[in-house]
Amino acid sequence: MFRLEGRRALITGGAGGLGRAMAEALAGQGADVAVADRQGGAAAELAGELAGRHAGRSFAGVEMDVTDEQSVADAVGRVAAQLGPPDVVVAAAGIAEVVPVEEMSYGQWRAMLAVHLDGTFLAVRHTVGPMLAGGWGRVICFSSVASLQGVAGQAHYAAGKGGIDALVRSFSREVADRGVTVNAIAPGYFESPLNDLASPERISALTANVPAGRFGRPDEMGALAVYLASDEAAYLTGQIISPNGGFAYCRHLDD
Ligand SMILES: NC(=O)c1ccc[n+]([C@@H]2O[C@H](COP(=O)([O-])OP(=O)(O)OC[C@H]3O[C@@H](n4cnc5c(N)ncnc54)[C@H](O)[C@@H]3O)[C@@H](O)[C@H]2O)c1
Repeated sequence: MFRLEGRRALITGGAGGLGRAMAEALAGQGADVAVADRQGGAAAELAGELAGRHAGRSFAGVEMDVTDEQSVADAVGRVAAQLGPPDVVVAAAGIAEVVPVEEMSYGQWRAMLAVHLDGTFLAVRHTVGPMLAGGWGRVICFSSVASLQGVAGQAHYAAGKGGIDALVRSFSREVADRGVTVNAIAPGYFESPLNDLASPERISALTANVPAGRFGRPDEMGALAVYLASDEAAYLTGQIISPNGGFAYCRHLDD
């Protein structure tokens, strides 16, 4: 079960903490992987590492800015030329900041929605055609507990993630009878560079509210991505799945 030989996965934000873990996990199960990231050098480096570990398979590292449609189209074209058209897309590019709404500029609001909501749409829009034509595909988007619960200081981030949830629920219905599943992973708190900006006090307050008593490890995300990408997950679509260590409403997030 869960073998991915012959699959071609494109991961946006693939050079990030969770992106890297998913790239390694998908490659480990047999998929060819394209790492796409605003940090083109880091994407190429990871693709090179994967190629070193999995001889005879194809990997690509491409620079892609998910907020720029031409950049997405060009990068997907380069991936298709090197690997063939992706049949798994993981939209994991993301940024985060903490800023109260009363201090938030319209530019900050727009920039957050551009990466998360527009970026997810563009990655999906530019990859899903060949999946539908071939009758098999897996779309894996990234939401957050911020969407499911709300987080003070991250209204723009949470709004972007809420939009992704609605995109997933709607788009999954459009394609459910054509072999393409569309789901979102809504993580709780994971060890990744995204949380580097959080103060030690915030990290320990958050951890105290995770029943599992710790942040998630990126390899735990890898295993979930493998499952969602697999043939075995064919009947799972339109879902927002939250690996979060039992995390529920957290008073400290509103402090
Ligand atoms: N780590 C967590 O605790 C957590 C919790 C909930 C949701 N998430 C979501 O998971 C996803 C992955 O997060 P992560 O923890 O790996 O973050 P990360 O910061 O480690 O990685 C994000 C990656 O996205 C890339 N990126 C940013 N803007 C981009 C753009 N415009 N175009 C292309 N690439 C861009 C960055 O270069 C980086 O490599 C994000 O969508 C994030 O919102 C993470």
